[in-house]
Amino acid sequence: MLNWVNYFNNTNRTLFNESIRNRRLLEIIMQETPVKGKILEAGCGTALLSLLLADSGFDVTAMDLTDEVIEYAKKRFCLNGIKLNYKRGDILKLGSFFEEKEFDTICHSGVLEHFSDDEIIRSLKEHKKISKKVVFNIPNNRNKLTQKSFGNERLMNNRVWVRLIQQAGYASVKVYGGYDLIRPSYFLLPGAFFNRRISCWWKWFSRHSIFVCQ
Ligand SMILES: C[S@@+](CC[C@H](N)C(=O)[O-])C[C@H]1O[C@@H](n2cnc3c(N)ncnc32)[C@H](O)[C@@H]1O
Repeated sequence: MLNWVNYFNNTNRTLFNESIRNRRLLEIIMQETPVKGKILEAGCGTALLSLLLADSGFDVTAMDLTDEVIEYAKKRFCLNGIKLNYKRGDILKLGSFFEEKEFDTICHSGVLEHFSDDEIIRSLKEHKKISKKVVFNIPNNRNKLTQKSFGNERLMNNRVWVRLIQQAGYASVKVYGGYDLIRPSYFLLPGAFFNRRISCWWKWFSRHSIFVCQ
């Protein structure tokens, strides 16, 4: 069994870092999901993304494959008064864990790049059964594997990802770049940069890609 908890403890996943690292993903999920809508975060790991979404008023379920990771996420859960649902489940078999179209949005960050092409297509077909929209973030081929990587990431370009998403049966795929900038950039860049319509060109430069599929 690959040790995900060990990986989380070695990659500085604090609430502050997760908010900055996932800023664009969070904004897109919030814009694509109805107010107070139902969201599933699959492969939640620390579940800090879920926590931030739940704090913004969404009805969030955080799911991961093993009890060990779910227990770890519960221990990391640090804001009293925010309701979060937890579930153990397999991203490759979502249809057997949830009802048809149970969620408005299913989201995840840093999960699908750990699977083969066949598994990605199979998993995305399962996403379609249980959710109206899919929003996910992956490191793309401009990224490099480092000592901090888990080790089995597949760094593919946006064209390959779009092809896999289309093969899973999605008619609409929008691609955005993630805000994977060094921290001072967030204070120096003009606000307009952080508008996804104005900076639609950013997907050609960023090291992470965010896909919105329907
Ligand atoms: C790189 S971590 C990402 C965690 C979190 N999304 C983050 O960005 O911190 C990948 C996560 O996917 C989970 N995972 C791996 N295979 C899975 C599967 N078949 N079903 C559900 N989750 C899975 C792992 O347990 C791990 O928590």
